[in-house]
Amino acid sequence: MTKKIDPCTLVLFGASGNLSRIKLIPGLFRLDVAGRLPDHMAILSVGRGEVSREAWQADIKSMLDAKFKNGYDQKVFERFIARNHYQANPPTDPDAFTKMKSVLSNESIFPQNLAYFLSVRPTDFAPVVEQLSGVGLLDESKYWRRVLIEKPFGTDLASAKDLQAKITKHLKESQIYRIDHYLGKSALQNVMLTRFTNAMFEPLWNNQYIDHVQITNNEILGVGDRTQFYDSTGALRDMVQSHLLQTLALVAMEKPTNLSPDSIRTEKIKLLESIRPIPVNELSKHTFRAQYAAGRVCVADGHGENVPGYLEELAKEGVNESVTETYAALKLFIDNPRWKGVPFYIRTAKRMHEGNTAISIRFKKAPMQLIEGQHQNWLTLNIQPRECIKMEIESKIPGLDIATRTLSIDAPQRQQGDETIDSYESLMLNLMEGDPSLYLHINEVEAQWRLVDPVVKAWMADRSPVHQYRAGSRDPVESSVIFETKDQFWRYSIELGGDKH
Ligand code: BG6
Repeated sequence: MTKKIDPCTLVLFGASGNLSRIKLIPGLFRLDVAGRLPDHMAILSVGRGEVSREAWQADIKSMLDAKFKNGYDQKVFERFIARNHYQANPPTDPDAFTKMKSVLSNESIFPQNLAYFLSVRPTDFAPVVEQLSGVGLLDESKYWRRVLIEKPFGTDLASAKDLQAKITKHLKESQIYRIDHYLGKSALQNVMLTRFTNAMFEPLWNNQYIDHVQITNNEILGVGDRTQFYDSTGALRDMVQSHLLQTLALVAMEKPTNLSPDSIRTEKIKLLESIRPIPVNELSKHTFRAQYAAGRVCVADGHGENVPGYLEELAKEGVNESVTETYAALKLFIDNPRWKGVPFYIRTAKRMHEGNTAISIRFKKAPMQLIEGQHQNWLTLNIQPRECIKMEIESKIPGLDIATRTLSIDAPQRQQGDETIDSYESLMLNLMEGDPSLYLHINEVEAQWRLVDPVVKAWMADRSPVHQYRAGSRDPVESSVIFETKDQFWRYSIELGGDKH
């Protein structure tokens, strides 16, 4: 369904940063190519440096050239480039926001519905909101004004509450768009649709039939040039606090009354609030953390590359000790009738043998067991890199004997000719449409921090050396301490047969 978008201006703070150059500006261009931007729509890029409009437009061309190596439509390019403007906002200039207001007040160039995308340092979220408000740029008496806040929304519950208190002095909840880019992924949106637009899954989606659920995000990449940020963050806060808990919410929530933003968010909030807090006195049974050591990872074309360990990367930056996890695994339980007793295992890691994000669901033992250890049914909703649904079932081996083998029914979500939409593209579109369903409500953010905070604190306090895993390897065997039963094991994206430790 294409929704109508009012004439509007997107004000992009942090326009010269990486996210903007690699995702946001090329993403806006693709929305223009797809005919999804309204005719009256302008983009005001805001950066610290003084750059002329012409120089900025030339820079945009270089971003598009880098992204779309096979070229692009020149006519759309002309239209897109004409939408783009630049405004310097040096932190040293006390009048910077007044000047921005005066630039934006030119209605013949800038439609007055304003969407601000804050792709800035988290410490700048509140000050930018405050200054926008100070010059009247958040006033909704005639036009809508929305603010998109990048992740992370706080670094723990207290700081999230503090940020919320600061920005709600100037904004209503309906004006705040807290982003989690995972919710813009089409395969993740498909989780809710798979569950509720088919009759065959919902009856089985509960503790009567499901043995356990695994939510996995594995990456081949290491921390790269983000050592400083990563070392003060860790895998739990970086990936689990929002991306993976949101994924869990979509897998486990009850059916929303309808597809309105309120209904969806109400169900997600209920679910997140019913996850049982991890018992801090039993952390070793519920959590596992590790750091990657030097090893060899698979890079493009299947080639291997030797890579340093996390602590070595930190040492180069002058940091000699760290207990920050690059691997985190958690066991969670949901205290509601549907999920009573079903463990949800969540894990994320950098520098693994493969990059894959998936939801894997193992069903309970079948009513008829022909052999001991008979394969249990699995349903995998693979999010990336392949978007697919895979179902594993037992089936008779043709022949004289009564024996079964496991068949895999693999349904790719993507078919030839389907659009490839980056998550930021769909989320920016939602921002302009005024549809917050794929954005986080403050209650979701708070529930997520409430869950991870105690573990983060306990892990930080425990300075004993952290378990090491070789870069390019699978989950450390020791991580299996969190499994409830001996027959549970980590699933990978590979084909059947070789997926047990
Ligand atoms: C980001 C994290 O939020 O998500 C990164 O900060 C991580 O560390 C990234 O690599 C993963 O996103 P995606 O879309 O590549 O799975």
